[in-house]
Amino acid sequence: MNYQWYPGHMTKAVRMMQENIKLIDLIIELVDARIPLSSRNPDIDKLAAGKSRIVLLNKSDLADPVYNRQWIRFFESQNAHVLEVNSKTGSGVKSIQGLVQEACKEKIERDRRRGIVNRPVRAMVVGIPNVGKSTFINAFAGKACTKTGNKPGVTKGKQWIRMGKGLELLDTPGILWPKFEDQQVGMRLAFIGSMNDEVIIMDELACDLIHCLQQLYPQTLPQRYDICGTEEPPFVLAEIAKSRGCYGRGQELDLEKAASLLMEDYRSGRLGRITLERPVSPGL
Ligand code: G4P
Repeated sequence: MNYQWYPGHMTKAVRMMQENIKLIDLIIELVDARIPLSSRNPDIDKLAAGKSRIVLLNKSDLADPVYNRQWIRFFESQNAHVLEVNSKTGSGVKSIQGLVQEACKEKIERDRRRGIVNRPVRAMVVGIPNVGKSTFINAFAGKACTKTGNKPGVTKGKQWIRMGKGLELLDTPGILWPKFEDQQVGMRLAFIGSMNDEVIIMDELACDLIHCLQQLYPQTLPQRYDICGTEEPPFVLAEIAKSRGCYGRGQELDLEKAASLLMEDYRSGRLGRITLERPVSPGL
């Protein structure tokens, strides 16, 4: 299948993001812990030049804990400040304030030398669509925060959320674009449900996922569906259809239905905590 995708609203989002980035000191970049590289923006280093950076492995509850740890080490080896979080439950989110101080140490020190005290760090959350930006902002900002903005000197429409002392967060996240032209990236984004399913042929996607799982987690499909799971992917999909009673009207196997069921099981975590990208680094 050809994994092609470029959502129409992206050009406007990119322009807004480039405008907002000028206003901030710190970028809080969300990636999906199941595919930390494919869910990243290819130009982030250029976009974030001169800014402090935090990388958050979001949806870490759906990813393999062994690889969460490896990915943390990977990003740390690239001098990033990293944390694993689950924005849905808020787990890990509390530790971010401490990390902000660390990530912005130089800026805070520079301000202090210039006699500027108590100037808050201004931060923006960025990430590709569906990575969990809004969920994260809600979890991080919670109800206790006060909104600034619509005051003289604050650009109309831009809202800064005051996060205790020393940090202000832009309430609208920056939407980044993934590496569209890379088919492997497109495929992985489709696996996690971050590509419009309407442009996807579900049973082909399911077969690609089966192939990946056979390589990376060979026990997963046999255990979940009580099947052998070692044949070519289309046969495995048929096994899943049989095992789950996916039949059409004439009692023929309904592979579309089995494919949707498999994808939903994967995306919701019912297949277990599965990381589809592994870090490759000499330090690991
Ligand atoms: P976005 O702003 O980056 O586009 O993403 P958004 O917050 O809308 O989140 C996209 C989906 O990811 C939502 O699911 C959200 O609940 C889920 N999500 C965000 N963070 C986490 C996380 O850490 N763990 C898990 N398991 N899920 C997370 P949805 O199906 O679109 O909505 P809902 O049914 O959960 O309400």
